[in-house]
Amino acid sequence: MVKICCIGAGYVGGPTMAVIALKCPSIEVAVVDISVSRINAWNSDELPIYEPGLDEVVKQCRGKNLFFSTNVEKHVSEADIIFVSVNTPTKTRGLGAGKAADLTYWESAARMIADVSKSDKIVVEKSTVPVKTAEAIEKILSHNSKGIKYQILSNPEFLAEGTAIEDLFKPDRVLIGGRDTPGGQKAIHALRDVYAHWVPQDRIICTNLWSAELSKLAANAFLAQRISSVNAMSALCEATGANVTQVSHAVGRDTRIGPKFLNASVGFGGSCFQKDILNLVYICECNGLTEVANYWKQVIKVNDYQKSRFVNRVVSSMFNTVSGKKIAILGFAFKKDTGDTRETPAIDVCKGLLGDKANLSIYDPQVTMDQIQKDLSMNKFDWDHPIHLQPMSPTTVKQVSVAWDAYEAAKDAHGLCILTEWDEFRTLDYQKIFNSMQKPAFVFDGRNIVDVQKLREIGFIVYSIGKPLDSWLKDMPAMA
Ligand code: NAI
Repeated sequence: MVKICCIGAGYVGGPTMAVIALKCPSIEVAVVDISVSRINAWNSDELPIYEPGLDEVVKQCRGKNLFFSTNVEKHVSEADIIFVSVNTPTKTRGLGAGKAADLTYWESAARMIADVSKSDKIVVEKSTVPVKTAEAIEKILSHNSKGIKYQILSNPEFLAEGTAIEDLFKPDRVLIGGRDTPGGQKAIHALRDVYAHWVPQDRIICTNLWSAELSKLAANAFLAQRISSVNAMSALCEATGANVTQVSHAVGRDTRIGPKFLNASVGFGGSCFQKDILNLVYICECNGLTEVANYWKQVIKVNDYQKSRFVNRVVSSMFNTVSGKKIAILGFAFKKDTGDTRETPAIDVCKGLLGDKANLSIYDPQVTMDQIQKDLSMNKFDWDHPIHLQPMSPTTVKQVSVAWDAYEAAKDAHGLCILTEWDEFRTLDYQKIFNSMQKPAFVFDGRNIVDVQKLREIGFIVYSIGKPLDSWLKDMPAMA
């Protein structure tokens, strides 16, 4: 029986391994982690992450051919194929600080593999890593090999949170990079055989190691660039009276462009886009490609601009101050159908409003009070470390409270900001909300999900990103 071990039981390791276990009953899959609380949660009824369909998959395989354990060494030493899916945060100190990937966790995983292995292994990079990481890992393993042979593969994960299970069941492609040697090709085939249990052969792409590593960074950079492109257009639409939804629709009908990922919003978030672009920028700079680095940097700058533009709109339309005013925040996760708040634009928007001394009442169907407090008091990039190594935050942000539902959040508020596109925010009773708010009552829709016309008829002053401004907002232009 083939044995797989995955180091790192996070958003990637957990769901990917659960699906491999489900689709390959003849393979034994162990997911290991140094975080005891994470592993306990994977073994309980309350999984540590929320993903539609994940519960069912885990329930079907857990205890049969899917195991979650903190006994890292045991499972690594027994495995034929080891996936490494640990954190790769952005460095906050030293060489490349603020851009380069911190490979501390990766390196310690590689050293541990070298320490405990007694038989030949295939080691698979599942984490997103800078180009040529495989070479570094290979060096660590081969210099400590005690005669054991290692093959390194790059198998970056393209799942999107919120649709992870769907994406894993029907991936657009599976990418496997390996060495162009007989040993490397044999390892590629072994991993291809795992995926071939459910993925059609023509969707499994095999490349060299560097192409696979770079393709992952490139794919995320392209996706983020599309969002920044439409967000840049949204600012121009507001200035000229065009409607960004109409523009996106017209542009997206061109089959060379396509309709996906063209929604204007308050900005992109999530654990990957910014980090991967920073990584790409750093690699370009290291290779002397300043112009290329600057090109990609701009994607992040536009994203930051979009968030501060939103905050400026809120403050300027409410008579240039939100000091002491209650603002309801609907949605904190970085997108709908996930509880993940890593790099969510809500953090920057909330911090911006708190900077102007607003009182925030936040509601998100999947994010806890603890998480919100932690996110608002943590330093940039600290989130991307294993939970038990993250700095504790003894200070709670006093101007922040967390509400049970949207109606409670909105009660007595002066303004309401929609920061995540949860479906339930589309169908709220906005008349009821209007009745309970201070007047004039403002709605700032950062996801373009409300019916602007209907809300204006109720009496709200509405700002919707990239849509024609109503006269109130025109009279109170946002300062840059
Ligand atoms: P995560 O933070 O949810 O999980 C990483 C896990 O690794 C943590 O539970 C941590 O305790 C564990 N860990 C760290 N060092 C360890 C060690 N030495 N031994 C055992 N366990 C260790 O991170 P996530 O989101 O799963 O991401 C993992 C990697 O996959 C990152 O490189 C990320 O960029 C990449 N990725 C993430 C995607 C996403 O949607 N979240 C999508 C595609 C790639």
